[in-house]
Amino acid sequence: MQISINPAEKIEGQIRVPGDKSISHRALLFSSLADDTIEVEGLLKSADTLSTMNCLRKLGVEFEEEGEKIKVKGKGLRGLKEPDDVLNAGNSGTTARLLTGLLAGQPFYSTLTGDVSLRKRPMKRISAPLQQMGAAISGRQNSELLPLSIRGYDLLPIHYTLPLPSAQVKSALLIATLYSRGISEIIDYYNTRDHTERMLQYLGAGIEKKGKYHIVMKGPSRLKGDRIRIPGDISSAAFFIVAATLAQRGELYIENVGINPSRAGILEVLGAMGADIRILNKKEYNFEPVADLLVKGGAKLKGTEIAGEMVPRLIDEIPVLAVAALFAEGDTVIRGAAELRVKESDRLKTISLELRKMGAGIKELPDGLIIEGNAKLSGARCESHGDHRIAMALATAALFAESESVINGSEAVEISFPGFFELMNSLVS
Ligand code: S3P
Repeated sequence: MQISINPAEKIEGQIRVPGDKSISHRALLFSSLADDTIEVEGLLKSADTLSTMNCLRKLGVEFEEEGEKIKVKGKGLRGLKEPDDVLNAGNSGTTARLLTGLLAGQPFYSTLTGDVSLRKRPMKRISAPLQQMGAAISGRQNSELLPLSIRGYDLLPIHYTLPLPSAQVKSALLIATLYSRGISEIIDYYNTRDHTERMLQYLGAGIEKKGKYHIVMKGPSRLKGDRIRIPGDISSAAFFIVAATLAQRGELYIENVGINPSRAGILEVLGAMGADIRILNKKEYNFEPVADLLVKGGAKLKGTEIAGEMVPRLIDEIPVLAVAALFAEGDTVIRGAAELRVKESDRLKTISLELRKMGAGIKELPDGLIIEGNAKLSGARCESHGDHRIAMALATAALFAESESVINGSEAVEISFPGFFELMNSLVS
């Protein structure tokens, strides 16, 4: 599918964005393991979360939809059944990696695969430590690539320092710890997103943070609860935050956005660049901080440098931050983001390739980007590379090009943000 985008001057309105994708996956997964039925409110309904639901259904979990809410009938830690077919995680790295952590603790055989993009993404980062905990996991290229076949066991606890910034690895190990006997310790010097820790704590698991980097968890740990509320996804809001900032005029109010500090780096970086973003009406949903955001147009941005501890806090927003940087005064340098090469596409490559088609001055580094500011973009024909965040970042850039652009493969937005183009259309003039 392709979509045409016309230049815009003003962005104005009051919106909500779909539920947080990371929290939605975790809500489905942990509710399935709870002793009770849990009502999940605000769940993201998109291709990725559907992949998680479909896999859980094959493991015997039942879901009941009631309008905007979904009831997950928890099976307890030991209530899942052996699936009678291959589990398919589709395009979703979070589904594949978190589910492998879960399957590692099940006393049955399962096989997990994914789409053509996911089958190229690295899995040894989870299979190696899960094997260390005692799970039998095998897959192509020495358990690096899907499909993986998994035969779980009662697991051993693990003491593990994350060798790379991955919340999915951390989460897979914490989920496996539910099925182990003893104390596990995971050290995350990158401070990656901590939704798993917060939700496990909310559901009563024996998990604790010690100091800035150490997570201590006791297995086995049962989960209990009755309700999980999911805030809007800051990674989805990001496209609208950047668009409203770059527009010459207008004001955008975004309700109920998750502002967990491990995810909210974009607000700090855009603020430091000169954007006018106000954080209002702060509250909390199941240990997750939430707020409304008010973004004003007509900002004069300055280029910046993004590196080090900031990178994991905005890793998924780098494509759209590159778009913001194009319109800043001066260059922007992003380093320490090599993980972007193993996302749904090689995002350092795809975003620079596509923005260059619009006339941007953007250079790839092995682990980042150098973006020339003060860009004058022209409309172009661009490609999503099947990557939802690339499609939406390009659509955001296209609003500020001098003529119409076309984005091929626009259906990729269904992965995390069904209705993205319609919502954007409703705000621009
Ligand atoms: C996610 C973690 C990050 C992120 C992804 C979602 C999660 O991936 O990029 O979109 O929900 O845990 P990594 O764990 O590979 O860094």
